[in-house]
Amino acid sequence: MKTYKIALIKGDGIGPEIIDEAVKVLDAVASRCDIEFSYEEALMGGCAYDITGDPLPQETINISLNSDAVLFGAIGGQKWDNLPREKRPESGLLRFRKELGVYANLRPANVFDELINASSLKPEVIKGVDLMVVRELIGGIYFGEPRGRDENRGWNTMVYTRDEIVRIAHQAFKIAMTRSKRVCSIDKANVLDVSQLWRDVVTEVGREYPEVELTHMYVDNAAMQLIRDPRQFDVMLTGNIFGDILSDEASMLSGSIGLLPSASVGAKIGVYEPIHGSAPDIAGQGIANPIATILSAAMMLRYALGENVAADKIESAVKRALKEGYRTKDLAQYDAKEVCSTSEMGSIIANYAAK
Ligand code: IPM
Ligand code: MG
Repeated sequence: MKTYKIALIKGDGIGPEIIDEAVKVLDAVASRCDIEFSYEEALMGGCAYDITGDPLPQETINISLNSDAVLFGAIGGQKWDNLPREKRPESGLLRFRKELGVYANLRPANVFDELINASSLKPEVIKGVDLMVVRELIGGIYFGEPRGRDENRGWNTMVYTRDEIVRIAHQAFKIAMTRSKRVCSIDKANVLDVSQLWRDVVTEVGREYPEVELTHMYVDNAAMQLIRDPRQFDVMLTGNIFGDILSDEASMLSGSIGLLPSASVGAKIGVYEPIHGSAPDIAGQGIANPIATILSAAMMLRYALGENVAADKIESAVKRALKEGYRTKDLAQYDAKEVCSTSEMGSIIANYAAK
């Protein structure tokens, strides 16, 4: 039997309760696939700051680098919003991404037929949407120097090097090869020099993937096209800030931000996390939707551990739970047969996944 070491970073707000459900489902599926997980918890975010004075203690980095993959809940909350920038939970997260070298953030957005009415867009526009935002995660304006502010000016720098663009472009094309073989690269090349380089380098890399159709789109147009006709997209390749914005937009195609998983991968260990935040307003009430985290665990099985059968089992179990009408509170008004708590939803999915 194979044993995988998983670092669990539960974080703040609803983080702990949704990670607990993902663990429940992982253990259920493990018993059927002749694998086993050993978990080690690590602190990050506001809870880490409260205990250690640092939102990202070195021990968390060590535990993560010592594991096969990191399963991550969510961090942040109002309580820590007024700390100096480097003490804030978000700074810990950015530093974490950088330390682990996870330069590629994969954010799928698809629409479950069972929840087609949950989106604010018309069913005929979103039926069958299945796209993947591939966002560069450790470069661009988030990290560029110089940065700073004084009384009267604030400044950040959007910078990409050729190497950074090459590696993220390869990721996007490789992923496209496993999907519908289309990459749309998003930039602002009509205005930004950094985007002109981006476009040229992506075009060069694209020549190595003759089977993949490459198109380019300005980010403002892409924001519009995502709402007008999202089915035109397969893989959307973006830099850090454009991907941050467009992936939130794409998540709304599916109706609930509580449904979408993500993976951040690079040279070393990958981080698997729901795309939603820590939702402190509903923490501890047992009403959070654990599905995004459970699907993140499935992505972890697929991308980090190569356990595709186990990943398929989890994804089918989620579909089945939705099909049978089980809904957490966020989706209660959409064809619910039964409204269930966070942990009831976890147990239902775990049961199906163990079959
Ligand atoms: C995300 C989040 C983060 C980001 C924040 C919390 C720093 O919005 O993962 O999309 O901007 O990358
Ligand atoms: Mg974001």
